[in-house]
Amino acid sequence: LRAPDFALDVDELRAAVTPATRVILLNSPHNPTGSVLSPAELTAIAAVAVEHDLVVISDEVYEHLTFDGLAHLPISTLPGMADRTVTIGSAGKTFSFTGWKVGWVTGSAELVATVRTTKQFLTFVSAGPFQYAVAEALALPESTYAELRDRLQFQRDLLCDGLAGLGFEVYRPQGTYFASTDVRPLGWEDGLDFCRELPGRCGVVAIPHQVFYDNVEVGRPLVRWAFCKQPAVLTEAVDRLAAGRLAR
Ligand SMILES: Cc1ncc(COP(=O)(O)O)c(C=O)c1O
Repeated sequence: LRAPDFALDVDELRAAVTPATRVILLNSPHNPTGSVLSPAELTAIAAVAVEHDLVVISDEVYEHLTFDGLAHLPISTLPGMADRTVTIGSAGKTFSFTGWKVGWVTGSAELVATVRTTKQFLTFVSAGPFQYAVAEALALPESTYAELRDRLQFQRDLLCDGLAGLGFEVYRPQGTYFASTDVRPLGWEDGLDFCRELPGRCGVVAIPHQVFYDNVEVGRPLVRWAFCKQPAVLTEAVDRLAAGRLAR
């Protein structure tokens, strides 16, 4: 997914499939870009999966964190996908419990059994007591998710407006709790250099996109910021950035 629109290049996906391909690993809403794949993009991915008889491992941990009325569409609900999709969710994102490492996998009995067998030999089990807490949380009413979304959307706009005011080119995300900026308008070329400077100058931390990319060049000028923070913390961060004279 490339700036500025972070849309899926379906031709690139098709070209990447070889006779050895077994799986498509998908993530939407997407970290780090904040992009939410559209029904048309998901339909195109599903068509590739069906045509080549592939399993889709769909990481949907930000499924509830979409903004501006945009709905997340699980690819497992598209025709031909129910039996070939493994869908992953996480309490870490939905309930802001990063670090609890409790999530869930849904799919056909056969695919879920395969995941269970593998998990047995990796981490065996995620913290038992937390699982009971997450089971309670999953029974919360739909309004909980709506409140969470509204709060996050407010925080998104607070941070994005602040960053735009500092001169960054801001990519306002459709989902997740990450906003991305291009650092070049401030005279920087490389997001990694920029992120290394930030803590010392401002006491603020951001993540360079390039660490997520196979092709580092594509992500080089981009930086990811998190807005899963209290509004006062976001305001202070923007103030600190303003005081840090970030222009190079
Ligand atoms: C796309 C995506 N999938 C999975 C995870 C892992 O989630 P958890 O820490 O709740 O296991 C993350 C966390 O950053 C993520 O961004």
